[in-house]
Amino acid sequence: MDAHLIVLAAGQGTRMNSDLPKVLHCIGGAPLFAHALASGDPLEPRSRVLVVGHGGDSVRRAAAEIDPDIAVVEQAEQLGTGHAANCARDALKDATGTAFVLFGDTPFVRAETLERMARARAENDIVVLGFSPAVPGRYGRLVMQGDTLERIVEFKDASDEERAITLCNGGIFAVDVALLFDLLASLGNDNAAGEYYLTDIVAVARERGLSATAVTCDEAETLGINTRAELARAEAIFQTNRRAEALENGVTLVAPETVFFALDTWIGRDAVIEPNVVFGPGVTVESEAQIRAFSHLEGCHVGARAVVGPYARLRPGAELSNDVKVGNFVEIKNAQLGDGAKVNHLSYVGDADVGEKANLGAGTVTCNYDGVFKHRTEIGANAFIGSSTMLVAPVRVGSGAMTASGSVITSDVPDGALALGRARQVNKPGLAQRLFEKLKALKASKQKDSR
Ligand code: UD1
Ligand code: CA
Repeated sequence: MDAHLIVLAAGQGTRMNSDLPKVLHCIGGAPLFAHALASGDPLEPRSRVLVVGHGGDSVRRAAAEIDPDIAVVEQAEQLGTGHAANCARDALKDATGTAFVLFGDTPFVRAETLERMARARAENDIVVLGFSPAVPGRYGRLVMQGDTLERIVEFKDASDEERAITLCNGGIFAVDVALLFDLLASLGNDNAAGEYYLTDIVAVARERGLSATAVTCDEAETLGINTRAELARAEAIFQTNRRAEALENGVTLVAPETVFFALDTWIGRDAVIEPNVVFGPGVTVESEAQIRAFSHLEGCHVGARAVVGPYARLRPGAELSNDVKVGNFVEIKNAQLGDGAKVNHLSYVGDADVGEKANLGAGTVTCNYDGVFKHRTEIGANAFIGSSTMLVAPVRVGSGAMTASGSVITSDVPDGALALGRARQVNKPGLAQRLFEKLKALKASKQKDSR
């Protein structure tokens, strides 16, 4: 069965008190809508449609970064969830299969729940996600007749009897695509909110003799974000879930509560993550790698058995092959490090290719930026870069070559050569002693004057 995702994200999110559209606020380094999209991944959707609000250009840009094929459609006026879903009509006009309508501000729906909805869809025209919250509050209520969902009544429109129902609408629908748009076309907005309710398609479908049912999930999955406080709570929940998942997957977390994950963090089995490590977006860490305390990683790959940190910073484009060592106070950006390469102390390696087993001494710096352009540095296999070498890019140090410590390397170093790029040392016998004596005498005379 083909699946199509429609993610409703046009709401203003006034209660966030923000210039940023609500769905661009992040949990685990990824915007809220990306979480909704990701929950649908296992359905292998044929198409994904994001419904954004008026002027949703920033959402559009963020969406294109996540998935260039995503269709972003605009709902200029927020006339309700039914109206919002209907905005996906043109984008899905030739589609067949099941449309899953999700909310962009509801990040915790589990893939497994959507899969259960997909299975129930095989026997029902409409499947709605229901849940029984501790406090049913203002949620829409599911009016069931046995296993059949007869209709959904919004809290505002519900009678006292209906408000007493505890099974609530989680907001997610699975419906045949063509049927969805057919039903949406017949919706009115004669209700307490004056909105086109997506929820009303159930009653219309039942009147036509079509079948509808509910699949239920835990309240935690339907948690929506409306305020910064809820966002912060959601972040905490997300992190708690991810830590548990990592432990489950055979990753050692020495102090789980101090490790922070992104939505797409991937860590291999038997990796060890020490305390106070932050994973920004786009990080993969292979098996048996060790990420030592107080390291910050984003947009990077760490090979098997590599050791990173303590106090290391891996920035986007850092590609560490197997057995690489990146030590304390080292920053790596947009650079490939071959198998077994070492950058152990106080270095900056940016826009560089570092060969296998090359060893970069303490304080090595790739001077990659001339103030306008970025340039690359190449370091061959088994090269030895002396401490405090400045590599002024573009520059290449050949394989098996060496640079003397303190060198400023401005031209290429051939394979196997030693490059010395610093002033020759001169020793002046006794001069230090004479200088000290002179300075001390000067100090003493100044103290006398000031008395
Ligand atoms: C909706 C459901 C309610 C359910 C609850 C679960 C309807 C009519 N009601 O109510 O039964 O219990 O969710 O959380 O569906 N949106 C748009 N355009 C619009 C209106 C909304 O894109 O014109 C988006 C919002 O950005 C949000 C989602 O749809 O992501 C839900 O909208 P919201 O206004 O929060 O719906 P509720 O009133 O909470
Ligand atoms: Ca809501």
